[in-house]
Amino acid sequence: MTDSILDNRTALKAEIDKVAEVAGYLWQKGWAERNGGNITVNITEYVDDGMQAIPAISDRRAIGKTLPHLKGQWFYCKGTQKRMRDLAREPMANGSIIRITPDCAHYEIVADAPVAPTSELPSHLAVHDWLLATGSPYRASLHTHPIELVALTHSRRWLEKDAATRMLWSMIPETKAFCPRGLGIVPYMLPSSVELAEATIKTLQSGYDVAMWEKHGVFAVDTDIMSAFDQVDVLNKAAQIYIASRNMGFEPDGMTEAQMRQLSEAFGLPK
Ligand code: 13P
Ligand code: ZN
Repeated sequence: MTDSILDNRTALKAEIDKVAEVAGYLWQKGWAERNGGNITVNITEYVDDGMQAIPAISDRRAIGKTLPHLKGQWFYCKGTQKRMRDLAREPMANGSIIRITPDCAHYEIVADAPVAPTSELPSHLAVHDWLLATGSPYRASLHTHPIELVALTHSRRWLEKDAATRMLWSMIPETKAFCPRGLGIVPYMLPSSVELAEATIKTLQSGYDVAMWEKHGVFAVDTDIMSAFDQVDVLNKAAQIYIASRNMGFEPDGMTEAQMRQLSEAFGLPK
């Protein structure tokens, strides 16, 4: 076995193991065709002096934006063009650990191999910058291609503000309980673009934990990668229930407004 930065770093390894576990789920669910989707996790809290001393194994590469709150921050990133199903087995061969340089506009790869980070890095890092700026406890972001949620965005009806959220919440009580901030809509934009990154931040800033990229996928944030996955999973389950009802030949009734209010009060959900 060759050396890994994860050797003798139990807490860091546990975090990366969670990423690998989630990557396996994404593949099993059919949400991760080819290299589809990406994950980044802010791992700065696990960085020790030994890690600080590790020399970079890549040149300095531009982020495409200056992100002032990322000074000295470290991330695990899925590699661009890498497959989730491979990452599930070998997270450090299909992703890498990077650190942001002091100018906050570049990064360098530190370990284990010089795997270039995801093409959606502008969105991921801009979101992490904003999370730090606001003092959020969220450390993980997930982009994935959940089939039924993406299908919904092919109809104007579900792109109206909060139309999909209201429908999804009303399919099964757990959806609102476990994705209480709903699904924000980001109109179609070129994948990997800085414009998409900016629109994603705007959507998250308006109070959502999950942004829906029209005709592409979702972008979710949470305390860790498992919780970000859970939010997408409950939303997509609700979409599947809606579609199952339609396939049985009827428009589902959905829970009533009164039932939703009762649930929000009982669970103390955010307004
Ligand atoms: P990467 O392979 O660069 O992570 O891209 C996958 C993707 O889903 C782009 O939106
Ligand atoms: Zn994508």
